[in-house]
Amino acid sequence: MRIAFVGKGGAGKSTIVGTFARLLARTGRDVVAVDSDPMPGLSFALGLPVIERPIPDDAVVEKAEGTEGPRYRLRPGLDATAALQAYGALGADGVRLLSFGKTRGDWGDIIRGQHAWSQILDELPHDRFDLIGDLPGGTRQPMTGWSKYADVIAIVVEPTAKSFATARRLSSLRDSKWAYHHVVAVANRISEPADTVTVAQRSGLRVVGAMPFDEGVASADRLGMAPLDGAPDGPFVAAVAALVEYCVARFDGSLKSQNPIKEAVA
Ligand SMILES: Nc1ncnc2c1ncn2[C@@H]1O[C@H](COP(=O)(O)OP(=O)(O)OP(=O)(O)O)[C@@H](O)[C@H]1O
Ligand SMILES: [Mg+2]
Repeated sequence: MRIAFVGKGGAGKSTIVGTFARLLARTGRDVVAVDSDPMPGLSFALGLPVIERPIPDDAVVEKAEGTEGPRYRLRPGLDATAALQAYGALGADGVRLLSFGKTRGDWGDIIRGQHAWSQILDELPHDRFDLIGDLPGGTRQPMTGWSKYADVIAIVVEPTAKSFATARRLSSLRDSKWAYHHVVAVANRISEPADTVTVAQRSGLRVVGAMPFDEGVASADRLGMAPLDGAPDGPFVAAVAALVEYCVARFDGSLKSQNPIKEAVA
């Protein structure tokens, strides 16, 4: 299963992804939490410390002049699975966090890690790992190919006018040329069932999960704790568990091979 969560800034993407990844891993699967947000967020939701530079410089080499492709590659002999095992941070429930780092300095400094991160995602075997992705808020990253590893795009939507507008813009990802995406919505911070109906109507998307506002999650966050560590018995974790169950039943395995558009692109 390969799902990327996108949405407006602050909609709840990282909180959902961290919880989803851990609950999925508890079912015995190899789960990679994929972080492409240069700001820390997903680490907290996974219960991990913030990692500044996960992929070391000596894991990456510059391509020879005059050759095609990205400027940096994993060093010869280091394949994607070995790189994930070496540089993906191992968190609670066995989830591996793959991020390219939070370095704030020179752009050239972060790009080595980014190229290696992309190569790992391109080359990890589909039948072994589930990828659960967390993108930065807004449209820029999702619209420029950063979610191309995913078969399913889940847009996190709060019941607010601004969140609906972002969701409608992001829903055009289903037409992206570089990857086939099945696009759905996940409602967050709902306070009554009518909110979920409104999210469906105003986003124009099928809502596959509805996360209630959970005071326990907010309190845990104030202490820097993940929902599963600070509010494991609350309604938010229960709703994410229901979403995991739905996604395993509906989005597992064969979406990519079923889709002629993505096959043509791959
Ligand atoms: N259902 C919920 N109930 C209570 N608090 C929530 C809920 N969902 C998210 N939050 C809180 O809302 C805040 C923003 O959540 P989060 O960081 O996951 O959003 P995000 O979409 O990843 O933000 P960004 O765009 O900045 O990456 C956090 O403090 C989080 O604990
Ligand atoms: Mg986030």
